[in-house]
Amino acid sequence: MLVRFYRDSDFNSISAVEKKAFREGAYSNYMLKIMLNSPHGFTMVVEDSSSIYGYATMEPLDSNSVDIESIGIIPEQHGKGLGSLLIEAMEAEAARRGYREVFLEVREKNTGAIDFYKKHGYNIFEFLTGYYTLSYEGSTNAYRMKKIIQYC
Ligand SMILES: CC(C)(COP(=O)(O)OP(=O)(O)OC[C@H]1O[C@@H](n2cnc3c(N)ncnc32)[C@H](O)[C@@H]1OP(=O)(O)O)[C@@H](O)C(=O)NCCC(=O)NCCS
Repeated sequence: MLVRFYRDSDFNSISAVEKKAFREGAYSNYMLKIMLNSPHGFTMVVEDSSSIYGYATMEPLDSNSVDIESIGIIPEQHGKGLGSLLIEAMEAEAARRGYREVFLEVREKNTGAIDFYKKHGYNIFEFLTGYYTLSYEGSTNAYRMKKIIQYC
């Protein structure tokens, strides 16, 4: 498995990953394009020689902090360490660019992702009532989580 920066030619594969990973909560292609082409953000993909299995994107909040806008791995590949490879590479790149804090928002009922983030050193920082428009497991609420990162 290889983690590398996103290229424009990956768009259709990322769109397919997004739909599989987030189902009805997936970003539209229009929103996805805006996110992936953000001039200050950056995106990485995880792939092998045959396919792209996941992607993650970060966007700066200010000169010190970035936000994980999205991270998704196709369901068939969950629990095999791909999400970990991706988030570690993204954090290393954020630290290299001089950011010291990573924030993210995760649905209150997305316990798998919350466990994943806790495993990677993120702590719950804030509860966001009605953060999402679409409901998931009966809730539109989210947690904001935070991690301090260091360049080494
Ligand atoms: C959250 C996500 C990115 C994690 O990626 P992953 O490749 O499955 O994660 P890894 O294999 O590197 O890490 C596994 C850890 O993630 C957590 N986890 C979350 N969902 C899991 C699943 N379906 N299967 C296994 N582990 C899962 C567990 O804590 C697990 O730790 P463990 O192996 O000690 O039990 C991935 O499950 C995903 O794309 N989910 C759907 C989209 C999503 O909810 N994204 C986050 C939005 S905020």
